[in-house]
Amino acid sequence: MTIAVCPGSFDPVTLGHLDVVRRARAIFDEVVVGVAHNSAKHELLPAPRRVELARAAFAGIDGVRVELVAGLLTDFCRDVGAVAVVKGLRGGADFDHELPMALMNRHLTGVETVFVVGDPALGHIASSLVKDVARHGGPIADLVPDGVEALVREALGLPPARGGSYR
Ligand code: PNS
Repeated sequence: MTIAVCPGSFDPVTLGHLDVVRRARAIFDEVVVGVAHNSAKHELLPAPRRVELARAAFAGIDGVRVELVAGLLTDFCRDVGAVAVVKGLRGGADFDHELPMALMNRHLTGVETVFVVGDPALGHIASSLVKDVARHGGPIADLVPDGVEALVREALGLPPARGGSYR
């Protein structure tokens, strides 16, 4: 039984995350989605809310569960018995960002990082861009799983969406 951890801040969970977790699950017997804190970011949604949204998003996928990562990712991986961390790549910039973390995690406990290439049709989706679009009044419903837009808008102090689209 091989277990992998798909970590991230999931602020909020997006359709891109769903794609990566599905790809990870196709390789590993079990995937633990680890909702963690990124010290380089100021998160919009509190951790319990990010966990709640991720649990709803991944609820339909067999062999996937969502847990909060309270400290170091490598300790979490050891606790759940993961043989690898899985991250998605949209392009070279993602790799440049991920490589130092992968090297640090391997330095800490020897855990390997496996990169999967995401669906290019979702390459424009990033949590930071999703929040920026919402913050400026744009529609995000087709970028995130059901229920996420409403909570993002609420966290931003915006009224409920009217269901608009630019296309
Ligand atoms: O979705 P993100 O923000 O790119 O994910 C980054 C994340 C949360 C996976 C990373 O910041 C992390 O692993 N945080 C947990 C604390 C930790 O282990 N930090 C050292 C990373 S080398």
